[in-house]
Amino acid sequence: VTNAGEPSTKASLIVVSNRLPFVLIRNAKTQELERRASAGGLVTAVCPVVIKGSGLWVGWSGIHLEDPNEAIPESNPNDQTPTAGLKSDQVVSVNINAKIFDSYYNGCCNKIFWPLFHSMPGRANFGGEHWHDYVTVNKHFAVRTIEALEKCLAKNEGSDKSPPIVWIHDYHLMLAANWVREHAEEKNLPCRLAFFLHIPFPPWDIFRLLPWSDEILQGMLGCDLVGFHIQDYCLNFVDCCQRNLGCRVDRNNLLVEHGGRTVRIRPLPIGIPYERFVNLATTAPKVLKTSKMQIILGVDRLDYTKGLVHRLMAFEALLLKYPQHKEKVSLLQISVPSRTDVKEYRELKEEVDQLVGRINGRFTTANWAPIRYIYDYVSQDELAALYRDAAVCLVTPLRDGMNLVAKEFVACQINEVPGVLVISPFAGAGEMMHEALLCNPYEVNEAAEVIHRALTMPEDERVLRMARLRRREAECDVSHWMRCFLKAVGALEMDDVGTTIM
Ligand code: G6P
Repeated sequence: VTNAGEPSTKASLIVVSNRLPFVLIRNAKTQELERRASAGGLVTAVCPVVIKGSGLWVGWSGIHLEDPNEAIPESNPNDQTPTAGLKSDQVVSVNINAKIFDSYYNGCCNKIFWPLFHSMPGRANFGGEHWHDYVTVNKHFAVRTIEALEKCLAKNEGSDKSPPIVWIHDYHLMLAANWVREHAEEKNLPCRLAFFLHIPFPPWDIFRLLPWSDEILQGMLGCDLVGFHIQDYCLNFVDCCQRNLGCRVDRNNLLVEHGGRTVRIRPLPIGIPYERFVNLATTAPKVLKTSKMQIILGVDRLDYTKGLVHRLMAFEALLLKYPQHKEKVSLLQISVPSRTDVKEYRELKEEVDQLVGRINGRFTTANWAPIRYIYDYVSQDELAALYRDAAVCLVTPLRDGMNLVAKEFVACQINEVPGVLVISPFAGAGEMMHEALLCNPYEVNEAAEVIHRALTMPEDERVLRMARLRRREAECDVSHWMRCFLKAVGALEMDDVGTTIM
């Protein structure tokens, strides 16, 4: 089955997310603001729909502006990315006092919601003042969203467009929907409201540890549609609505009754811009010069949910149990700096640095080092070349909403003899990528066995597994996700419906 082109809808799409699809940088010479585009898959799929439907994007620009009315620049004329066509009048930037923003983003989102939603309550640092700032920021986003909605409706007046869809994203903005609904109802502004969570939704027994669990559920239930990556997260959410709020729920049809309305809950597993990665892998020059060395690749934001320490220990266990891999296999770990304002992330960096040093000190010979460790951003070109030429890719998070690295690796496997994907069952992606080798990152010795199996897997088995993995990712790419979302929210053009596949 081939995918249809870009999904289309008669409704304008108003996207609301913590970050805009680009960041603003102040040019040191001219003092002018400039856009730096983001290359993420979400932006690739969502931006064209916003642009085509004359929609808007509400979010933070990555810079705290002294003058909140300072104009957003148009994109650079050489910009080839999907955000290039997003005009400045389609952007509503949210400006928040730097101190409050830090408390909302780092204090609440990164130090409370992130660990808790990843089922790591021991790392969560509850603080009432941060919750207070989270509420303030969500209210502010709601106000800016209503402004965006008014602007959109004014522009669409007299056209045959259906009511705009307001699509709120992720754990940063779990309260905003309810206020958007209230204001929209007061002001008689027609719209459909949807939410998508990009991280896991935890089971009730974890979720209820949050002192503000009821408020969060009520905030999300302000929507008509709430989407998660996989069925398990949907069921967890439905369960929490029933047990915390006493809502009437239908677990089979994933419906929750709240405030006299029925809210639809849907699994909407995100994909990647598959073709873009195939093209990158086809054109990217070789990065790995030593073709005889088998490369085990790891690519992650440096985050404690990604299981880096466990992965390094599993690799050490592999070298101990199977010394035949010495001087023949190297682990290339790319750790992308992330959230460096948060203590846990800085501590993790120390821990990983030390562990890499210890393992390398233990095994390195005159001609070989077992681990090559990069702590930096890597270009998409370079990444595609590494994905393409790696023998094994380790995607072994302790918990992960979906994990797109697994999908990007698969898309880049264009060599005749493909590599092997090793995936943790605790990543959303592990639910569907059945042909990968499953690996429980907590079982370090067992994980070493799985890596050994991947390194020694016969060619025909690699080919068979990878072909199936690739077919699924090609079909269920990020445009497919976008179409599924529009269908779920009831806004897909009829022409597109028939092409939707699962
Ligand atoms: C996760 C979240 C995103 C977030 C990203 C990077 O994937 O779901 O919403 O943007 O991490 O984290 P950051 O804190 O840098 O935005």
